[in-house]
Amino acid sequence: MTRPHAQSARPSAARPDPRPAAPPEPGAAAAPSGPEPGLLAAFEAAKGFMPRHEGLALYAAARRAARLGHPLLEVGTYCGRSTLLLADAARRAGVTAVTVDHHRGSEEQQPGWEYHDRELVDPAVGRMDTLPAFRRTVHAAGLEEHVLALVGRSPQAAAVWRAPLGLVFIDGGHTEEHARADYVGWVPHLADGGLLLIHDVFPDPADGGRAPFHLYLRALASGAFAEEPGTGSLRVLRRTGRGW
Ligand SMILES: C[S@@+](CC[C@H](N)C(=O)[O-])C[C@H]1O[C@@H](n2cnc3c(N)ncnc32)[C@H](O)[C@@H]1O
Repeated sequence: MTRPHAQSARPSAARPDPRPAAPPEPGAAAAPSGPEPGLLAAFEAAKGFMPRHEGLALYAAARRAARLGHPLLEVGTYCGRSTLLLADAARRAGVTAVTVDHHRGSEEQQPGWEYHDRELVDPAVGRMDTLPAFRRTVHAAGLEEHVLALVGRSPQAAAVWRAPLGLVFIDGGHTEEHARADYVGWVPHLADGGLLLIHDVFPDPADGGRAPFHLYLRALASGAFAEEPGTGSLRVLRRTGRGW
């Protein structure tokens, strides 16, 4: 189970103009700049679980990882809050953000659970459906053409994926089974020098569920990753070897 984060209102103002792809940035010398105010406002207006300080860290990592020239992959789209940051980083580097979700919600988001949002239930189906909210979020930010949304189960998507990835951000199901499947499905595709980010890593069980923490320990134990500074519950690891 994740630690509670503020959920804010859905973005209301649509901005129909898609933003053009920026040319790839030359070299890796300069530190990437932070998100523009409009992007940060869209992030904060979107429903989701990531607090601002972790969003800024995710964005900085995505900007660096995007320089490798490979897609940036997210497991756990929800309503697109964190996806926006990956999409803008991808746009600036001329790559694509890929985000995977079945859009039926995680265990803790189901009716009767702590993170359920009844506004996200499709009355025709009687189940959660975060896909419409995700589409509104990305459209309002003008980032549609920089995101490839895979709608389905993460292990199924990983099983057909073949391309190297510049970044893998794991923020999907938080059971041991789902988290492990995300790790073994996607991490093998992470390119040399690519970044593995894991959300909701809580060393103290009193703060949240164990599965993301176990992924973090597994990555460190593999000897294939070097840890970089993280923020809050967001851990950042750079691939330095071929294992996982
Ligand atoms: C914690 S939310 C993601 C939050 C999002 N990254 C954000 O910051 O706003 C987790 C999401 O993972 C999705 N999910 C859980 N298990 C999944 C699986 N096995 N395959 C695909 N999506 C899954 C849920 O539907 C849910 O939308």
